[in-house]
Amino acid sequence: MTEYYTLITGSSSGIGRALAIECARQKMNVLLVALPGTKLKELSDHLQKTYNVITDYYFIDLTHENAPYEIFEWSIKNRYNIDILINNAGISCEGPFEKFDSSFYENIMRLNMVALVLLSRLFIPELLKQPKSHILNMGSIASYFPMPYKAVYGSSKMFVYSFSRALREELKSSSIQVSIVCPGPVVTNIHTAQSAQDKGKLARLMHMKASYVAEYTMKRMLKGKIIIRPGFLSKVVYYTEKFVPQSIKQKLVTKFFYNE
Ligand SMILES: NC(=O)c1ccc[n+]([C@@H]2O[C@H](COP(=O)([O-])OP(=O)(O)OC[C@H]3O[C@@H](n4cnc5c(N)ncnc54)[C@H](OP(=O)(O)O)[C@@H]3O)[C@@H](O)[C@H]2O)c1
Repeated sequence: MTEYYTLITGSSSGIGRALAIECARQKMNVLLVALPGTKLKELSDHLQKTYNVITDYYFIDLTHENAPYEIFEWSIKNRYNIDILINNAGISCEGPFEKFDSSFYENIMRLNMVALVLLSRLFIPELLKQPKSHILNMGSIASYFPMPYKAVYGSSKMFVYSFSRALREELKSSSIQVSIVCPGPVVTNIHTAQSAQDKGKLARLMHMKASYVAEYTMKRMLKGKIIIRPGFLSKVVYYTEKFVPQSIKQKLVTKFFYNE
């Protein structure tokens, strides 16, 4: 019997980890990819024991030029039949544009955009061999509009949105379904927890749990949805985007995300 695998980048913590748990819960075999550390092995062992699925993991820094090629070669060498590619890994930044140096911005762009495009390109021929397959790309509500004080992060997520929708259209008569998920704020690490704390009651209420985002996302991805909008904020922002004037929208967004 052919074994199929779901490959998830950035799966050692946060939303990626929650997606890996959700996939294993649904009896999918998972391949975990993240930076070197102890978390991937622990998660890999936990998923095997708890859900009785096959798992493996690969440590890599996805900002490195050759990283997507290395991951691809690793999967081919191990004969992993990947039917779901989840491009989740991503980093953010918050503050005035001049706060961070150029190498930090280069890393954001490499991780959030370059790695995602190259992994998609490399795996498409493999995904086409499966009877049905998926590419799930990680966007954000930042995919919907320009985001002051998160200018590079927001722009990278707009890129992911545009790329995913274009690719979905190109591949519409193939066996691959491309989806993008655009969550609002999710408490995943000390930065997001601090941010939730700093931004007042309304912002705190809008923060979601990674487990909720993962379950919601996998359900909709498997149904073939193009744009997946977990949580109230993502839905509201998506629809208001269509009819609220840019100037008003921009003021609200700036106030909500940068409260100083
Ligand atoms: N949290 C939110 O509010 C939110 C909202 C919307 C969208 N998103 C998006 O969701 C995705 C995950 O975010 P998160 O909040 O769950 O982040 P997170 O908790 O910080 O986890 C990020 C994951 O990416 C991995 N990673 C970071 N840099 C990497 C690199 N250079 N090479 C390989 N792996 C790397 C991390 O590995 P290590 O653990 O080994 O460092 C970790 O597994 C991102 O694309 C983010 O933009 C997040």
